Amino acid sequence: MRRKLAAGNWKMNGSASALAELHALLPLLPEMPPDIVICPPAPLLYRASAAAQGTPISIGAQDCHMQQSGAFTGDVSAAMIADAGATHVIVGHSERRDAHEESNGDVRAKARQAWAAGLTAIICIGESGDDREADNTLDIIGGQLSGSLPDHATAANTVIAYEPIWAIGTGVVPTLDQIVEVHDFIRDRLITRLGGEIADGIPLLYGGSVKPENADTIFRAANVDGALVGGASLKAADFAPIIAALAQS
Ligand code: PGA
Repeated sequence: MRRKLAAGNWKMNGSASALAELHALLPLLPEMPPDIVICPPAPLLYRASAAAQGTPISIGAQDCHMQQSGAFTGDVSAAMIADAGATHVIVGHSERRDAHEESNGDVRAKARQAWAAGLTAIICIGESGDDREADNTLDIIGGQLSGSLPDHATAANTVIAYEPIWAIGTGVVPTLDQIVEVHDFIRDRLITRLGGEIADGIPLLYGGSVKPENADTIFRAANVDGALVGGASLKAADFAPIIAALAQS
């Protein structure tokens, strides 16, 4: 059985006081929660990891550098993230691909660094609204997946998040059929590349305007194993019903 994962991406939001949301989440969790990862901004990683100790919540970073160490002012390495107590790192989020011009090759190098540091890489892929309108979605997704995923992925070190850019932060969600089509396509590509046994164990997350109101529907798809949640992960009261919907799916 594939593990289910609810991941929260706080983006550039939250200060130390926001860690209260992490505590607030605990009494709201279902009896058998799925895997839960919260990805706060880098300065909060250490404190968040300490706060999550002994709870079902794991902590992840939102990005790491593609080199192990060196003269990269302002950057954070995968090993530093692991040292801060985190277990996961998001790589290739569309906001990084866009604002920081990260290529598939950069994302692949970051995923490799994540693995080398013992972290699970949450590798993000997703088409733009223009790609979708031009009917290029599967081409784009196929290219991003093959270019961003290093060789030797395993179910333990890799999560794939499908996040259509036009759905992120917009309140617009693809139809269930659209989500199913892309997730089934990703699973097929993983099977071709990694073989069925490994590919079947890799969780595929959907991301983009996941809310308590639409989580049930999204989690109905067989190849949707969880969600990468932005805005609705900031408040325990919003994130908890999404986690509960995943646990029941
Ligand atoms: P959103 O963000 O849930 O606020 O749309 C998702 C993401 O960017 O990971």
